[in-house]
Amino acid sequence: KMDAFISELIGKMTLQEKIGQLDLQSGFRNNTGPFVNEDYENQIKRGQVGAVFNSYGADFARSLQQMAVEETRLGVPLMIAHDIIHGHKTIFPQSLGEVASWDPELVKLGAKIAAREATADGIMWTFAPMADLVRDPRWGRVSEAVGEDTYLTSVMSVARVQGFQGDDLSKHDTMLATAKHFVGYGLAQGGRDYHTTDVSEHELWTTQMPQFKAMVDAGVATFMTSFNDLNGTPATGSKFLLTDVLRDKWGFEGFVVTDYTAVNELVPHGYARDDKHAAEIAFNAGADMDMVGRTYINYLEELIEEGKVDESKIDHSVRLILEMKWRLGLFEDPYRYFDMARAEKEILSDDNKALARDAARRSMVLLKNDNNALPLNQDELRTIALIGPLADSKRDMIGNWAGAGPAHLDHVITLKQGLEERLEGKVKVNVAKGATYAFLREEGSPFAHDRFNYVARQTRDDAALQKQIDEAVKLAKQSDVIVLAIGEQEAFSGEAASRTDLQLPGNQIELMKALKPLGKPMVAVIQSGRPNDLRWESQNLDAILHAWYPGTSGGHAIADVLFGDYNPSGKLPMTFPYNVGQVPVFYNHKSTGRPHDEWTQKVRSQEYTTRYNDAPNSPLYAFGHGLSYSDFQYGEITLSSDTLTLDGELTVSVEITNTGKHAGEEVVQLYTRQMVGSITRPVQELKGFDKVHFDAGETKTVSFTLTADDLAFYRADMSWGSEPGDFQVMVGTASDNVQRLSFKLID
Ligand code: IFM
Repeated sequence: KMDAFISELIGKMTLQEKIGQLDLQSGFRNNTGPFVNEDYENQIKRGQVGAVFNSYGADFARSLQQMAVEETRLGVPLMIAHDIIHGHKTIFPQSLGEVASWDPELVKLGAKIAAREATADGIMWTFAPMADLVRDPRWGRVSEAVGEDTYLTSVMSVARVQGFQGDDLSKHDTMLATAKHFVGYGLAQGGRDYHTTDVSEHELWTTQMPQFKAMVDAGVATFMTSFNDLNGTPATGSKFLLTDVLRDKWGFEGFVVTDYTAVNELVPHGYARDDKHAAEIAFNAGADMDMVGRTYINYLEELIEEGKVDESKIDHSVRLILEMKWRLGLFEDPYRYFDMARAEKEILSDDNKALARDAARRSMVLLKNDNNALPLNQDELRTIALIGPLADSKRDMIGNWAGAGPAHLDHVITLKQGLEERLEGKVKVNVAKGATYAFLREEGSPFAHDRFNYVARQTRDDAALQKQIDEAVKLAKQSDVIVLAIGEQEAFSGEAASRTDLQLPGNQIELMKALKPLGKPMVAVIQSGRPNDLRWESQNLDAILHAWYPGTSGGHAIADVLFGDYNPSGKLPMTFPYNVGQVPVFYNHKSTGRPHDEWTQKVRSQEYTTRYNDAPNSPLYAFGHGLSYSDFQYGEITLSSDTLTLDGELTVSVEITNTGKHAGEEVVQLYTRQMVGSITRPVQELKGFDKVHFDAGETKTVSFTLTADDLAFYRADMSWGSEPGDFQVMVGTASDNVQRLSFKLID
């Protein structure tokens, strides 16, 4: 039925109308690139727009849909898109944080709630999940990513696709997801957003591609091209990526949209002579829809006349887009996603806020907790000093790419509110900013891009800063404990928000140094979208809770964790470096010929091994690290056999006891290492994980099953498969805290 309907519709369309379906226009809100087109409403009426985004709000979006349906010749409905990344109006934790829950069901639920809210508000297509593997925390978009591990990224990205799309796109509360950015965007040189990426073929296939293939297999509806130049070809103009791999090798059946003006950007990349040439390259490469740049509208007709683009290829792209409109049910009822009654009932509902609160507390990572500084005991406290620039900030609570969240800040719970509500006046909470988290610019220093950057910068005024610190110290003196609300302003990560320094910005460290001599317990709640350099904090504070940007109910969630109403269970999805100079530093690196380890120490002097002269090799906090208020004691790991056959199974088990006083959850992690391969292999690779609940005193056996498929990789000849030989299996509580056993994979 769908095929016949679409064939008939395409048969009625003029070439201009067809090309119109390949055009995606931005509304007037939230642009992240140059704004290109001010005439888009007229273009919708002329049937020259297939989809719009940044146009949320049921009334506004409905008015656009009306133009398409009621004022164009064929009445083809628009698809209405938006970046629904970690929530529409009820905001869940920032993507990297949510993944720190190591709980795919929770991540799926976050996407599902986001879809429920967005689809009631006129949005039926989201530009998420973002699955760019990232190993450089300087990169601004690290907060939107899933971290440094391909396996974790695949599992979580698939969970998000399932959450957004459900099992049936025609349901009124599911939406199209977008696998983005295809591909290599997370490898920007120097961590500078949009910068070039250059990666070996093996690395590309091993670390960047699997998560995208997994999303194709999970039925993701659309793909977005990437801004970057990948090994000499800008991804948006890459026939290799968009056709040879995505369509021909992986069998992707949805449509491909470019990133914002990414077609036009082939010109400054030095890959196209002008916009017309860019349109020819991108369209022929396999990009079906042009986001904002108007290159298809302006040039495809001419390119067809000149024989440079094939009209049947246009028909094919139009078909893919119309199929999605059909699957969304738009031809049946173009207004089905403007459901005022459902919007009223569901958006920012108490239920959604409660789920967001649970997601937030399950995402937080307890990095350090000396002498059980946490949880705080309300009965032992009279006054808390809550100090720091994030103590009472609603905007920072919800992070970047926070959908329509910034327009609904009245629903956001700050840390101050969260603590006050939790303590109900029984403990006094005294609040001071104490410091600024703005970039502090020395007089005359060159921040050349000031004019274009909305991130707060402040010219250093020592007297004013000292006054703020003095006030905080005074307040802290009268308190029993200092809770620091420190971190990065939300706009410090996200698109076009890269940094060269990873320490907490502004004068936050100066503030902590002034508080330290008071000798009071100091507990930090860090809000940030990236792994920071927390050296000072790790050496001087009693406890550090990383809260990411926890979302609408963040203040409640942090209070839950600080007072032990929830026992923290998050684990790092990305390594926290010792300092910025170590970057990129990640757990699954190669060994090198001169590893700085015990083996090398035995056979040669330490001097000529791979190491730094001024810093350790190991990071501050490793991938997978995260503490609990409980104590999880691991017994010895056991293997069902010391051999695994190509069609067999191997079970690795461990008995774990919660010897602590609190019930809690532990993320048990499984890694392997192939000792010798046809290409060199990483020292450790995540192969599985399980988040297990333990009552206080409870013992459970946790088991994982390994097969030869789990050990497969792109071999020296680029074929996919495993290689018989020696392996290690590792099980533990973090990548740097595992037990190992050896086994052989045999033919
Ligand atoms: O979806 C985003 C993309 O991730 C970056 N550029 C803008 C797009 C649309 O907002």
